[in-house]
Amino acid sequence: MMARSLLWVVVLGALSMPTGGCRWRSSELPRLSIAQVASARVRDTAFSPVERGRFVYQKYGCAMCHGPDGQGGIKNPNSQTGGEIPKLIYVAEGYTVDELKVQILNGVWEIARSDSLGPRPPYRMPAIEWMSPEELDALVQYMMSLMPKGAEEKW
Ligand code: HEC
Repeated sequence: MMARSLLWVVVLGALSMPTGGCRWRSSELPRLSIAQVASARVRDTAFSPVERGRFVYQKYGCAMCHGPDGQGGIKNPNSQTGGEIPKLIYVAEGYTVDELKVQILNGVWEIARSDSLGPRPPYRMPAIEWMSPEELDALVQYMMSLMPKGAEEKW
């Protein structure tokens, strides 16, 4: 009994905490989606290029397919990339800056199938041709920064 009421104190305390410290400052920016907030911040030079790249990533909805911060985890049945949309945290290993830009601007229309006679994987990589060069630069810097620290040191 005692433990349960203590739990409520903790829960209610957390709920009534001021939201000022929240990353999205939801108290100042009511009813805006993450994409809208990100879009407003993409050109804000108070943020570093990598931070702005993160806003670009949010603005264009990359996270819907590649997961928050490129962590992956979204299924794409029968795709050759292990039945999932690839995570992006290791792109620094396999891509140059220019190759990444091409990948984003061109997208991938035909996703390779693991079973060639099986169904077409439901998700494709859209071509995001309308992204501005500044946004693309920041996005690529952000993606290059995703590589986990330990992984870099192996080289
Ligand atoms: C509708 C889902 C979808 C969205 C939205 C999407 N992608 Fe993709 N992306 C894919 C799929 C599926 C692949 C796998 C392509 C293949 O099989 O070659 C992919 C592949 C990639 C790759 C290559 C990864 C690798 O390991 O080779 C990069 C880089 C990438 N996407 C970046 C982005 C960025 C940046 C955005 C946002 C601007 C984005 N994607 C938005 C579905 C998506």
